[in-house]
Amino acid sequence: MTDKLYIFDTTLRDGEQSPGCSMNIDEKVRVAHQLAILGVDIIEAGFPIASPGDFEAVQRIASEVHGPIIAGLARASKGDIERAAQAVKPAERARIHTFIATSPIHMQAKLRMQPDQVLEMAVNAVKLARNFVDDVEFSAEDAGRSDMDFLCRVTEATIAAGARVINIPDTVGYMTPQEFGERIRTLIERVPNSDQAIFSVHCHNDLGLAVANSLAAVENGARQVECTINGLGERAGNASLEEIAMVIQTRPDRYNIQTNIDSTKIVSSSRLVSQITGMSVQANKAIVGANAFAHESGIHQDGMLKHKKTYEIMTPESVGWSTNRMVLGKHSGRAALKARYEELDTKLDDETLKQVFKRFKILADKKKEIFDEDLLSLIVDDNNQSSDNIRLLSLHVASGTKDVPIAAVDLEINGKTHHATARGDGPVDAAFKAIRSLIEPAGKLLLYSVNAITSGTDAQGEVTVRLQEGNRVVNGQGSDTDIVLASAYAYIAALNKLPDMHAKEIHAQYSGI
Ligand code: KIV
Ligand code: ZN
Repeated sequence: MTDKLYIFDTTLRDGEQSPGCSMNIDEKVRVAHQLAILGVDIIEAGFPIASPGDFEAVQRIASEVHGPIIAGLARASKGDIERAAQAVKPAERARIHTFIATSPIHMQAKLRMQPDQVLEMAVNAVKLARNFVDDVEFSAEDAGRSDMDFLCRVTEATIAAGARVINIPDTVGYMTPQEFGERIRTLIERVPNSDQAIFSVHCHNDLGLAVANSLAAVENGARQVECTINGLGERAGNASLEEIAMVIQTRPDRYNIQTNIDSTKIVSSSRLVSQITGMSVQANKAIVGANAFAHESGIHQDGMLKHKKTYEIMTPESVGWSTNRMVLGKHSGRAALKARYEELDTKLDDETLKQVFKRFKILADKKKEIFDEDLLSLIVDDNNQSSDNIRLLSLHVASGTKDVPIAAVDLEINGKTHHATARGDGPVDAAFKAIRSLIEPAGKLLLYSVNAITSGTDAQGEVTVRLQEGNRVVNGQGSDTDIVLASAYAYIAALNKLPDMHAKEIHAQYSGI
């Protein structure tokens, strides 16, 4: 009999806390659907008290996403727990995840509370949450640096109060694998009612040990791991889901345990999250990096040709890198496109398919071979959606070794056409200046990133632009075989998400030259 390891995905909560990774509600719902396809057991959909947007995202995910348990995070307070309960209520299976810090530094400096007060709040929080749902998880924040005796007391008391899952976070990524593993074993051995709860871990990656610490915990009895796609999360991130899942799958000799993860959906999940958040995946990242299965040296290539297992411990296909990469071309019809999306686990309603098919045809005119990655970008990017307030009508740029780059742009802003030209340090800079001259607020540029979606000089460039206006941060994506155009699409997509965005009144016509 093999044990089951529960995969608790917190991409939409801790992952979203990565600097600049905020997602809008529709984007979160898309990611949640993908997580269900991937086979995670629990989706932590957000922190409902944090903002009305967070609340709505959790509530929509709870209503629309079927399969996984849907969890909402709450501090150990009445207001948080009631709000979380309301948000997760529509779920088939709902969980409230409540937490309070138990380390001396957090209790003294942050909470300014005595340990006994913290214990009482933890117990009351669990009891209150149990009035709304059967499935309550309690986390002892900064458990890695908590006093072991106190942690045992809190664990015993919260299990007695009705917590089904006890989560032991290494909140600041301070633990090393052996000591963290021992911590989990000690808790399970010393807490008298430990058999009445599942022990979970939540490791941060400040010292690059999040995955190793999580696995050490599993070896010592933890049966839930909290993790994120691409290892997103506060600061250096959380344990990466794809790495945990593939260690378990690749080393059954070490881990006689099973997850529900369909590993062939890992790469598409990683891509979706990186496209939506604009956080690109480093090429040498395990499992999902572009080079994760690339063999460069002659010795390795020779070995691979003789026997793949010489240098390959898992196949690229097993994590969803497709081998049959060329899928469609300019003569493909709408039915073939729909079928291919279905193979990629993406169901498009008729209206979306119509829009995507139009974009597919435009792309197919520019690019001979359309790969799966191109198809996924067509549904993620925001290029000129018909519902947008600002639409790009035309863009012309000129640059060269001797000329100062110049851009001329025509935008439709709330139904009216506006024109501007501007010079810049490069063609993208010129295009952005021309666009910015027509719109306010135009946001502060926090991030500009370009990625080639596939290989080859005709590859689409996928651009993410992140803007800040006040305390609102928005992302826009654009893709095209022309990266200046992709950049303009991405910038305009982000501008369309800013509140109260409108045309600058004084400059119906602007020239920055
Ligand atoms: O890192 C942490 O301690 C957390 C808790 C809220 C689980 O994210
Ligand atoms: Zn965390």
